Amino acid sequence: MTITAIGSGKGGTGKTLIAVSLAHAFAHLGERVLLCDADFGLANAGVHLGLAETGDLKAVIDGTKPLGAATVHVGSGRTGFDLLAAPSGSGALANLNTDSVEKLCTALEHASQYDRVLIDLGAGIDANVMTIAARADEVLLVVTPDPASLTDAYAFAKLMLRRTTSRLPQVLVNMAMNATEGRRVAEALAGSAQAFLRATPESAGAIPFDPRVSDAVRRQSSLLTLFPQSPAAIAIEAVARKLHGHAAPLAAAGLR
Ligand SMILES: Nc1ncnc2c1ncn2[C@@H]1O[C@H](COP(=O)(O)OP(=O)(O)OP(=O)(O)O)[C@@H](O)[C@H]1O
Ligand SMILES: [Mg+2]
Repeated sequence: MTITAIGSGKGGTGKTLIAVSLAHAFAHLGERVLLCDADFGLANAGVHLGLAETGDLKAVIDGTKPLGAATVHVGSGRTGFDLLAAPSGSGALANLNTDSVEKLCTALEHASQYDRVLIDLGAGIDANVMTIAARADEVLLVVTPDPASLTDAYAFAKLMLRRTTSRLPQVLVNMAMNATEGRRVAEALAGSAQAFLRATPESAGAIPFDPRVSDAVRRQSSLLTLFPQSPAAIAIEAVARKLHGHAAPLAAAGLR
């Protein structure tokens, strides 16, 4: 089982869209997927999907329900996956303490019924975000052409390196207008990391700016279901295939 967390530092970079779409894409590749909405104060993966029921993340943290009794199944057939979130708009999990976050990480690390646990980290670089990032097997750092997203992504990478001593997130460019802009954004972040952290993050790929994305978000439907041939959907499937191919050998056997 592989735990993949999705963060960015800055808000509004597309983390939730990417997390939800990757959940579909990994399921399509045959993986058993759990999507955990760790945007604790403002959970909105369920909103993206137009769901009334989003599971009971609080019960897992409190230890009052096992994971299997706290998730809801989303979709059907080959693109179905499980979701674990707090009810949208409830604010039930605002201001979680570190102990609670560590407990959640432990519960997710034991979720051997899945091949992939995706975690939507929510914005920011606070202690809770960095705790989860440091414990994940891999972290996708979403960065957009917005200069503030680059500085926030750099801060994220720096904190993660500090906490783990050796691990950097993989850079995933989102909302680039074309391939040249996508490369420029990735290179700018890699350049800062090389100059100041003496380490170069790997690339997880790039997702273009695509008007179909806001269309799908407004209609509270999954991009991959609604517009499977859109450039953003095709790019997200490619990211999933790349990460799927890199799964640790033990993960394929369901061992961790
Ligand atoms: N590739 C894209 N092309 C066009 N629009 C996009 C793309 N990716 C995301 N968006 C738009 O950006 C907005 C923010 O996306 P999303 O909610 O996924 O970001 P987020 O990083 O999860 O935000 P937050 O930090 O608030 O949790 C959405 O309205 C979505 O439509
Ligand atoms: Mg979000």
